[in-house]
Amino acid sequence: MDSFNGIRLVVLTGAGISAESGVPTFRDAGGLWEGHRVEDVATPEAFELDPVTVQRFYDARRRAVASVAPNPAHHALARLEAELGDDLLVVTQNIDDLHERAGSTRVLHMHGEIGRARCLACEQRSEAPSDLVDEPPCPACGERMLRPDVVWFGEMPYGLDEIDAALVGCERFVAIGTSGAVHPAAGFVLTAGAFGAATLELNLAASEITEFFDESRLGLASDLVPRWVDEVLSGRDSPPAGRATPPPPRA
Ligand code: APR
Repeated sequence: MDSFNGIRLVVLTGAGISAESGVPTFRDAGGLWEGHRVEDVATPEAFELDPVTVQRFYDARRRAVASVAPNPAHHALARLEAELGDDLLVVTQNIDDLHERAGSTRVLHMHGEIGRARCLACEQRSEAPSDLVDEPPCPACGERMLRPDVVWFGEMPYGLDEIDAALVGCERFVAIGTSGAVHPAAGFVLTAGAFGAATLELNLAASEITEFFDESRLGLASDLVPRWVDEVLSGRDSPPAGRATPPPPRA
């Protein structure tokens, strides 16, 4: 991915797109944050205080993700990429690899990836070798200081400059299966909209940011996403030709 400015369609995905694959969301009934306190497992402070609990939490997530499969929503986005190529970017908050397993290649994991580890000694990122609670050595430097390569609360998401460039330049922004509770992703609709993109939300229920979208469709991702992709590919969902308004100057 060389240039992020000029991508026509930016899709943001959240936990809701993987829910029907069997990956629990965070804030729905029975979601991950109902059974765990964010501050106990998803902050740098938690890792410092109790690394074993944090490693066990993410080791369990890694195993859970390995046992599920992409659903029709992931497959539909892969189908869209096969047609649009460089005109599409998927930005995901998800740490699972279900987009990739469905065939998508242009995926930016802004909150990291559960299948990867980061070495606290040499900063190399690598495939997570096994359960990290067992303190396996870093494949690059051999030190036993691997942490999950996921972005915790209080840490900087990955790829923000690239995402910003994509949002500013796109014609169409679509958010799928995200509650809009976590920034900066919750603000992407405002950036894309301010720079002239048409905005669409596909979600099971109204989110915290529904009001900021031009259009919101409620339902299951496995139903809504394939139908929307069909619309795009048949030309029925053409974003406004050119921009409705010229983009404001960027400070
Ligand atoms: N189809 C579509 N949407 C769904 C489905 C489904 N089958 N199931 C649930 N949803 C919707 C819910 O209505 C909710 O709005 O998905 C959204 C999931 O919201 P969250 O659980 O808050 O997940 P997400 O928005 O991805 O969370 C953002 O928070 O804790 C952090 O780092 C974590 O990346 C995550 C971030």
